Amino acid sequence: MKCRRCREPAVIDIRRHNAAFCQECFQHHCREQVRRTISDFDMIQPGERVLVAVSGGKDSLGLWHLLRALDYDVDGLYVGLGIGEYSDTSGAYARDFAQMHGLKLIEVDVPAEYGFDVPDGSRAAKRAPCSACGLSKRHIFNESAMTHGYDVLATGHNLDDEAAVLFGNVLRWDTAYLGRQHPVLPEAPGFARKVKPLVRLGERELAAYCVLTGIDYIVEECPMAVGNKHIGYKEVLNALEERSPGSKASFVHGFWDHAYERFAGDVAQERAELGACRACGAPTPGDLCAFCRLRARATGTPLPMLQDDGA
Ligand code: AMP
Ligand code: FES
Ligand code: ZN
Repeated sequence: MKCRRCREPAVIDIRRHNAAFCQECFQHHCREQVRRTISDFDMIQPGERVLVAVSGGKDSLGLWHLLRALDYDVDGLYVGLGIGEYSDTSGAYARDFAQMHGLKLIEVDVPAEYGFDVPDGSRAAKRAPCSACGLSKRHIFNESAMTHGYDVLATGHNLDDEAAVLFGNVLRWDTAYLGRQHPVLPEAPGFARKVKPLVRLGERELAAYCVLTGIDYIVEECPMAVGNKHIGYKEVLNALEERSPGSKASFVHGFWDHAYERFAGDVAQERAELGACRACGAPTPGDLCAFCRLRARATGTPLPMLQDDGA
């Protein structure tokens, strides 16, 4: 197996591209995929300040490294969710990466700053852990980007993540989620721009990038995610990809090219009609945002006029 670019012996093959690469050319390939994604989707303009949300895993640390390699001005954000040892370990990977590369890492510790952890939140709100966790992360990512004055918030969602989420959204024809599933969500009053520069790279490529680049990351998955629907969707999609390489990429990118626009209109309208949360100021359709309602329940804080609408 020879490298497609330089004809030296290859260390990795990528079936959907019908290509193999040596170490250096593979790193170049990853940078090119990210560079193209950022440019095709107009994700980041020259001179903008980027905040990358890092979990300590391969995707987000790989993304931080790739964005630096492409010369972006990018700091990290780690959110401690209070998931026992898993959170302690993942935070340590994020901190070590920042220190080793001389980069700035902002940390938000949910138990210390908000008085509850994800297991508490999920029990109190009778939500699946990943749902309470996702809601908290989205809220804190946006709030941190806004308070610290970043133009863009980047996450490490990769091609496999997007394919699994899209698969779930299509199975249920969840039009509201379909209207929000895009590599760029533009800024709006109260919202920082959100971008996903890794949507052209698969999970296996990110793991290989980290190993070949010497990036240490947490290999264990979150213990609360066991039995999560998306893990099942990934298995189905992997079986499909095995039979016909390229299926995931054409599913996801085909959606953005041909179908996304049909669902996006309602979401833009909804965003324009949001007010400010009475407790924290975040954009919300109600009186209190979903995060403040979750927090109130998890901590047992009686917020006056707390609306009981299913948070
Ligand atoms: P997940 O929702 O766990 O699939 O993670 C998706 C993306 O969210 C990751 O690639 C990171 O960019 C970000 N992320 C997940 N967990 C954290 C965390 N604890 N702190 C900061 N960013 C995170
Ligand atoms: Fe959120 Fe596991 S990382 S529930
Ligand atoms: Zn709020």
